[in-house]
Amino acid sequence: TKDKELIRGSWESLGKNKVPHGVVMFSRLFELDPALLNLFHYGTNCDSTQDRLASPEFLEHVTKVMLVIDAAVSHLDDLHSLEDFLLNLGKKHQAVGVRTQSFAAVGESLLYMLQCSLGPAYTAPLRQAWLNMYSIVVAVMSRGYAE
Ligand code: HEM
Repeated sequence: TKDKELIRGSWESLGKNKVPHGVVMFSRLFELDPALLNLFHYGTNCDSTQDRLASPEFLEHVTKVMLVIDAAVSHLDDLHSLEDFLLNLGKKHQAVGVRTQSFAAVGESLLYMLQCSLGPAYTAPLRQAWLNMYSIVVAVMSRGYAE
């Protein structure tokens, strides 16, 4: 369908540079909700936001998130095949103290990153297509969280 074409077409280039795009996304997230920075563990409590954004823990997580998005894009035709993985992922986030409301902020940050990277190619239908896919991912993660 059209949604899938829009998502695949836009991810084709972004997916080649996952980490830099993921950094844009999470920098936005921490702007929206700075307290989320504290969920990652760092050497001291006094590191600046700048230090934290450059830390291996943060960059590894960014990479993990981008790989999940990449998996969702490659499984657009059978997203349910990711169900067990996503249920478990939701459970893990409960264990590390992330609240499910924060997943919505990640969605906003994802759209922000797409807007920055795609420029004029960021259209209303494209935005909606990504939002639809991300909402499915988050719905399954939230279900796993609650279980
Ligand atoms: C693991 C935080 C959202 C994917 C983790 C961990 C933390 C964390 C603290 C454990 C440490 C680590 O493995 O780096 C957060 C925060 C989020 C968030 C604060 C914002 C609300 C997401 C989203 C995804 C994701 C939206 C994917 C769509 C992962 C993956 C792992 C992970 C794949 C590794 C799980 C494993 O160990 O098997 N996250 N996370 N995270 N996160 Fe997130």
